[in-house]
Amino acid sequence: AADAPLRAAVMTLSDKGAAGERVDTSGPRAAELLAEAGYEIVEQVLLPDAQKKIERELMRLADSRQVDLIITTGGTGLSLRDVTPEATMAVATRNVPGIAETIRAESLKITRRAMLSRGVSVVRGQTLIVNLPGSTKAVEEALAIVLPQLEHGLRILK
Ligand code: MTE
Repeated sequence: AADAPLRAAVMTLSDKGAAGERVDTSGPRAAELLAEAGYEIVEQVLLPDAQKKIERELMRLADSRQVDLIITTGGTGLSLRDVTPEATMAVATRNVPGIAETIRAESLKITRRAMLSRGVSVVRGQTLIVNLPGSTKAVEEALAIVLPQLEHGLRILK
């Protein structure tokens, strides 16, 4: 149906989280904010910063699970371990630069360190993928910035 709930997945990229050395709070927070906005949370996954694994999971969630939206958190910075943008670009079929541009531009007003996130926003097939930084604070700030506009785009993509 045209107004069926949009389906979302949340993917946390964190070596420490995946190894059980740190509790992931940013992924659950993203899922909570999406659920509050009316999304059905189809899956929450936690992976190490391993590019091929991330690519495989993004493809599975987009192609097999056919979620409308994948929100990733973490792995967007300058550490050589940070490969989320590279994995996301590798599976993209189209670039959607305005979402990542807007997250950075608006986040800069909150912290100048926002310039250090390399996060991208793309489409794979009929799935929108948006990279967010890894901190729970950044997830809250970035979703407040873009979530109100995503539904319109996702309905058009469907
Ligand atoms: N964006 C917002 N809105 N709020 C933040 O606190 N943190 C920045 C940046 N973007 C931040 C933000 C910092 S300190 C870093 S290092 C980069 O995101 C990359 O974060 P990541 O390596 O966890 O992905």
